[in-house]
Amino acid sequence: VPNVLVANHKGGVGKTMATTGIAAELAKAGHYVLVVDADPQGNLSRRMGYLDDRLVGKPTVGRAITYGRGRRYAAELEACIVPCQWEGDWADRIYLAPGGPELEARAAEQNYPDAWQRLRSALSFVDPGWCVLIDTPPSMGHLMVMALAASDHVLTVTEPEFDSVQGALHLREFIEVYRDRLELQCDLDGVIVNAARKVAVHEVRWSDLQAHFGEKLWEPKIPLRASIAENQEFGIPPQTNVPATGRMFAKLSRHLLDVMRAPAIL
Ligand SMILES: Nc1ncnc2c1ncn2[C@@H]1O[C@H](COP(=O)(O)OP(=O)(O)OP(=O)(O)O)[C@@H](O)[C@H]1O
Ligand SMILES: [Mg+2]
Repeated sequence: VPNVLVANHKGGVGKTMATTGIAAELAKAGHYVLVVDADPQGNLSRRMGYLDDRLVGKPTVGRAITYGRGRRYAAELEACIVPCQWEGDWADRIYLAPGGPELEARAAEQNYPDAWQRLRSALSFVDPGWCVLIDTPPSMGHLMVMALAASDHVLTVTEPEFDSVQGALHLREFIEVYRDRLELQCDLDGVIVNAARKVAVHEVRWSDLQAHFGEKLWEPKIPLRASIAENQEFGIPPQTNVPATGRMFAKLSRHLLDVMRAPAIL
């Protein structure tokens, strides 16, 4: 299964927004997508259209990966999956494993043997033809370690600003330092620039990013756009009703399909 992690050590850079935009384009291209909300904030779950309290009390990723001997993580994760609430035939190909505050308690279980492999075990039920997108919190703690251990590819989203570029570099360094100890199978395969504006400092940071990441820096960069923020507030994909934004996400999702070496479907 090509499991793809979306991460940056910096918060608020657009990780969740980009996850929803790419999920939508993958589904439009005929792919089946499972989005996994591995963030205690649960922002992704809300942006898949669960704006009300329908998920309250329902099983979540946090419950599915609760540590325990003899637990069947995969069966529990499968049982918490719900359909995406977006409109459109293509949206029927997207499913969500909801996150939320319960995940916060999982970090305390990090000292148990093999605890960092729980999410990988939980995802083992997923059909190998599906793409799994995992959204993560802006931290390098145990939730991130579990998500890295479950992933084949890592994408980072960064603003063209110093602090979030540092967050992306730290993520890459973390993967290399812990690769052997955590038996990581993932690489940082793509860098998506978000919230870009036509200001001199953003041009400078774009050059920095080129120097740091070379061909792993993906184009186009996503501009700062009111429609993106609005659509996310309404729990719909960022490109809704804005074809130019849709074309950008379509290009970014094709970069991802290339990295995953996934065959074209539609
Ligand atoms: N290109 C953009 N233009 C306008 N608003 C944006 C853009 N990208 C993201 N936003 C908005 O900025 C806020 C932060 O985005 P988002 O929640 O996706 O970031 P994040 O990296 O997932 O944050 P966290 O680290 O808390 O998980 C959201 O309100 C989102 O709608
Ligand atoms: Mg987020």
